[in-house]
Amino acid sequence: MTAAASLSDITARIQKATTLAELDVLEQELFGRKQGLLTVAMKELGSATPEERIAKGKELNALKQECTSLLASRRQELSLSMLGSFGETDRLDVTLDLPARQRGHLHLIPEFIRSVEDVFGRMGFDVAEGPEIEDEARQFDLLNFPKDHAARDAQDIFYVDVDSPPDNRFLLRGHTSPVQIRYMQTHKPPLRIICPGKVYRKDADATHSPMFHQFEGLMIDKDTSLANMKAVMITAIRELISPNAEFRFRTGFFPFVEPGLEVDMRWQGAESESREGKWMEIAGCGMVHPSVLKNCDIDPKKFQGFAFGFGVERMIMIKHQIPDLRSFYEGDLRFLKQF
Ligand code: PHE
Repeated sequence: MTAAASLSDITARIQKATTLAELDVLEQELFGRKQGLLTVAMKELGSATPEERIAKGKELNALKQECTSLLASRRQELSLSMLGSFGETDRLDVTLDLPARQRGHLHLIPEFIRSVEDVFGRMGFDVAEGPEIEDEARQFDLLNFPKDHAARDAQDIFYVDVDSPPDNRFLLRGHTSPVQIRYMQTHKPPLRIICPGKVYRKDADATHSPMFHQFEGLMIDKDTSLANMKAVMITAIRELISPNAEFRFRTGFFPFVEPGLEVDMRWQGAESESREGKWMEIAGCGMVHPSVLKNCDIDPKKFQGFAFGFGVERMIMIKHQIPDLRSFYEGDLRFLKQF
C-alpha cells in the first residue's frame, strides 16, 4: 500500500472514529515523530528529484492540512455529543440512600455553659474567668470567711504543695466566688458578670465529684435589690431548665452574702405529673456582704449588689433527670449520644 493510499484510508477512519481516544491513536499514526505516515513521507522527499519534490511536497502539505482540520472538527463533534449525553448518564440521584455521616457535638457540659452565657448575656452580663489554682485570700479571706471556718479544712480542699506564704496558701478553688473578688479588684461598678468554670472539692459519690463545674453571678450597681436578684435568677432558670419551674427561696448562710439564701425549684404543670414533685436545691445566693465590697475598694454606701452560685452538673441532672453525676465524665457514647 502506498503512503497516499494509507493516508486516504486514514481520513476515512478519522471521520468514523467514535471516541476521543481513537482520534489520539490516529493522530499518532499520522504525525508520530518517528513512524508517523506523514512524517515518513516528508522525510522521503529528500531523496526525490527536484520536480517530484515540488509536486509531492504540495500534495503532502495539502494532506497534512486536511488531516489536521479533520481531526480538530471530529474532536469537537465527539466532545459535544459526550457533553450532551452527560444529561442522560450523569444524573444526580437525590433519592439515593447513602449511609448517614457521623457528626460529633459538644459535650453537654460546655454546651450548657454556652447557653448560660447566652441567657445571661441577653440580660447584660459579661463572662469573666479566673484561674483554677487560687490563693486562700481570694478563695476565703476577702470573701469574709473567718480564719477558723470549717470550709478551709484540708479534708475538703485540695491545697497545692508549692512554696507559698503560710497565711496565703495556694489551693484548687472550691467555688467560683474568687472570680467575683478578682473582677471587683480590677473593675469599677456598675458591673454584671457570670463566671463559669471548674471547681474542686474532696467529695466523690453518685452526686459529688472531686471536679465539677459552677457558674457564679455578680451584679453591683446603685439601688440593686434582692427583688432584682430573684427576677434575674428566675428568668434564667426558667430559660435554662424549664418554663414550668416553681421556686422557693429560704435563708441560708454564706459568709460573703448578707442576707444569704438558698434556692429550691420543683416542677409544676405538665412536668410535675411525670416527675417527682419534691423540692430540689439548685443555687446559693444573697446580697454581697458590705465587708466584701470594702475588701475590693467599693463603697457599700454607694453600691450594693447580689451574687449567686449554681452547680452546672446539678442543673443538667435536674433538667434531664440524670441520676448519677459520674455519667458526665465516663465518656460512654451510649450516654452522651442521648443529648
Ligand atoms: N460559692 C457558693 C458555693 O459554692 C455559692 C454561692 C455563690 C452562694 C454566691 C452565694 C452567693 O456553695
